[in-house]
Amino acid sequence: MRAMRAETFSGYEGLKLIELPKPAVTKGKVMVRITAAGVTPLDYTILSGKFHGSKAPLVLGNEGAGVVEEGGGTDFPVGSRVMFFGTYGAFEDGTDSEWVAVRKEDLCLIPDNVDDVSAAGIPVAYLTAQVALTLAGFQTGKTVLAPAIGGSIGNAVTQLARGLGAKHAMSSTTNHAKAEQAKALGFNEVVDTSLEKLGDGVRRITSGYGADIVVDGIGGEVLSEGLGVLALGGSLTTLGYSASRKTTIDVTNLIVPQASIRGLNMFAQPQAAITDAWNVIVSLLKSGAIKPIVAKTFLLAEAADALRYLIEGRPFGRVVLTI
Ligand SMILES: NC(=O)c1ccc[n+]([C@@H]2O[C@H](COP(=O)([O-])OP(=O)(O)OC[C@H]3O[C@@H](n4cnc5c(N)ncnc54)[C@H](OP(=O)(O)O)[C@@H]3O)[C@@H](O)[C@H]2O)c1
Repeated sequence: MRAMRAETFSGYEGLKLIELPKPAVTKGKVMVRITAAGVTPLDYTILSGKFHGSKAPLVLGNEGAGVVEEGGGTDFPVGSRVMFFGTYGAFEDGTDSEWVAVRKEDLCLIPDNVDDVSAAGIPVAYLTAQVALTLAGFQTGKTVLAPAIGGSIGNAVTQLARGLGAKHAMSSTTNHAKAEQAKALGFNEVVDTSLEKLGDGVRRITSGYGADIVVDGIGGEVLSEGLGVLALGGSLTTLGYSASRKTTIDVTNLIVPQASIRGLNMFAQPQAAITDAWNVIVSLLKSGAIKPIVAKTFLLAEAADALRYLIEGRPFGRVVLTI
């Protein structure tokens, strides 16, 4: 089978299109013919040699969509369309390939109203977003901020929070054109940080209240500004570092509102948390309350271009490989 493998973790040129044997279906695994694979910043972190625990050579691709060929039993009959996330593309070969033997518990049936390309970009962003909201104690009426409306996490948290009845589901962008695009897509609580500081925008939108929950995948200055808008008893979840792994915080932003900060690692979630998150996500997908956004698709052989487009082009929506 064809697969896009990182032969070395030395940047984009480490990616090579190669032939590998089709994986074997062992007990508890389901053979999935991959139709589309989501491109994520994790691919870039691994390819740059900055991810703990990944070993080259490694087929990248942490999430994907496809069709069940064998081993799914009555839950996932042959021919059913599935999407999944797991340790694929991080600690074992991933979805940038024609077949993956997927652990059954990682699979989720794709709702009929979602196509494979959109589905391939759902698992990482939406599972992470939903788990983050749950751990932060999200309830209807809460005020939520997730920076980077065009990014996968920012967009998924914003859509989920809105779909689940947040009082405010706020986001941001550093790019004026993306702020306009967000408005056109119906995201009306996006702070354009080319015009206004993140904190000022959040206080304007919430009439001074701030955010009960901040979910931050950006790090750097965005994280420290996010801490500055926490409401009384609020929390910030840090889960990514698109801008920077380092930041400086003003501790009074935690002390005065008795707020908290926590980390989130999706590779360390109990199965029950993932199952609960899938239930919420699938129900909102079926009702149309959340709508995954795909910016651009690339062919498997173009995986390096696809990743460069995600990291350097900073598109609005997901980048997906069609297999
Ligand atoms: N902990 C976990 O388990 C977990 C799970 C999923 C993802 N993550 C991590 O979360 C992070 C975000 O992932 P993602 O998929 O949302 O990324 P993404 O789709 O690539 O979006 C990142 C966004 O961040 C903004 N950005 C990039 N550089 C910036 C900078 N220097 N300053 C300010 N904003 C900047 C850009 O938005 P604008 O251009 O609009 O400003 C960009 O679109 C990544 O580090 C990813 O690895 C972690």
